[in-house]
Amino acid sequence: MSSVLRVEGGHPLSGTITVRGAKNFVPKAMVASLLGSQPSRLDNVPLIRDVDVVSDLLGAHGVQVSFDQAAGSMTLDPRNVQRARRSDIDALGGASRIPILFCGPLLHQLGEAFIPELGGCNIGGRPIDFHLETLRKFGANVEKREDGVHITKPSGGLHGAIVELPFPSVGATEQTLLTAVRAEGSTTLRGAAVEPEIMDLINVLQKMGAIISVDTDRTIRIEGVDSLTGYTHRALPDRIEAASWGAAALATHGDITVLGAHQPDMTTFLNIFRKVGGAFDIDEDGIRFFHPGGDLKPAALETAVHPGFMTDWQQPLVVALTQAKGLSIVHETVYEKRFGFTKALVKMGANIQLYRECLGATPCRFGQRNFFHSAVISGPTPLMAADIEVPDLRGGFSHLIAALAAKGTSTVSGVDVISRGYEHFLSKLGQLDARVAYVDGATSR
Ligand code: EPZ
Repeated sequence: MSSVLRVEGGHPLSGTITVRGAKNFVPKAMVASLLGSQPSRLDNVPLIRDVDVVSDLLGAHGVQVSFDQAAGSMTLDPRNVQRARRSDIDALGGASRIPILFCGPLLHQLGEAFIPELGGCNIGGRPIDFHLETLRKFGANVEKREDGVHITKPSGGLHGAIVELPFPSVGATEQTLLTAVRAEGSTTLRGAAVEPEIMDLINVLQKMGAIISVDTDRTIRIEGVDSLTGYTHRALPDRIEAASWGAAALATHGDITVLGAHQPDMTTFLNIFRKVGGAFDIDEDGIRFFHPGGDLKPAALETAVHPGFMTDWQQPLVVALTQAKGLSIVHETVYEKRFGFTKALVKMGANIQLYRECLGATPCRFGQRNFFHSAVISGPTPLMAADIEVPDLRGGFSHLIAALAAKGTSTVSGVDVISRGYEHFLSKLGQLDARVAYVDGATSR
């Protein structure tokens, strides 16, 4: 159900909020519990839609999931794993991209699986060719159908493979890890993603008994083992949510302390945040992001895989760049259609021009393919209130920030998609003195 928020803009966001476990790690650690012969416990789990979807899909396969939402503590017991009813699987079609990661664990546990068609934000083609290619290399029989993917394990079982990723895909790296850990023999993965969320998934698998090494050249080596136990693990914090609130502090001339934010995962963001004119204080509890006064400065930015500037950080920051004095350039190299959200900002008065060219240091995959994947932002431009429709998760949060920064009262519709990745975002806005309320009286987390 989509809800409409009324947002009274022009007031600085100020106060303290807490971020919990990373949206792009927690659901994957939940899937990893399937590989174990014993129950697992995961702490710092946020109450977000992707966690619900994976809980339901695990439950459909007989995994007992119990979640103490207030404590953020979840136990997962895979000892009665079984085939799911097709109707239960289909009910989760289109809800998330995570189900594709069930392939390896379900093949190891059951020898067969059916994965529903995937969801995920409309920010590009979101293909899964790397995933399917990788599963075939492990020996799986993979049949892509209209309504999902049907896979079966070969009679001799899954065997180690040599996987070379054309692009350091986070999902395909996770697919390889979750399949290789119990495959017969060793696996070499070249061109792997090495995001902090990937390293935390490796931590979880190692706790379960896996043998995984990461070389300096993005090569990950896995020695397959016969069985894995359960794990107890505290999820790393959500660096995308923390950065989103930091960008909100900048755009609204505010002062937001984000408890749980972890500096080592955010180094690149913090450098840009400071160069644009933001200020931050760091202590063992988290990071205080604030606008110290004075003009914001423009930036030339190129998104990249880790340790570069993360693609999910650019949307919230672009809102702050509309208030910087001069021309900023953002070259998006991870997704081909990630600037759709700028249409609403232009409607509110921002001056943003999109280009097909690679406007950055390095030509990327999208340069000659007609994708508007570079943006030039000219500021500062006052933002005026408007009626806006949320396009996707990160773009949606950027629309909220823009409405909070704009003069006047805006309505933001389709905000429910924001709860896919931002836990309790409405109550957090309340904790930051934001003047927002649902128009249709609908409730949401
Ligand atoms: C994960 O998506 C995250 N989602 C994304 O966060 C994040 O932006 C992305 O990694 C990059 O860091 C989750 O973890 C749930 P990819 P994923 O595979 O795994 C191409 C958010 O808002 N590709 O690294 O789907 C693909 O087209 C979301 O939190 C293929 O060509 O991303 C893209 O250009 C958005 N074939 C690039 O790789 C494939 O089989 C990166 O995709 C797979 C990917």
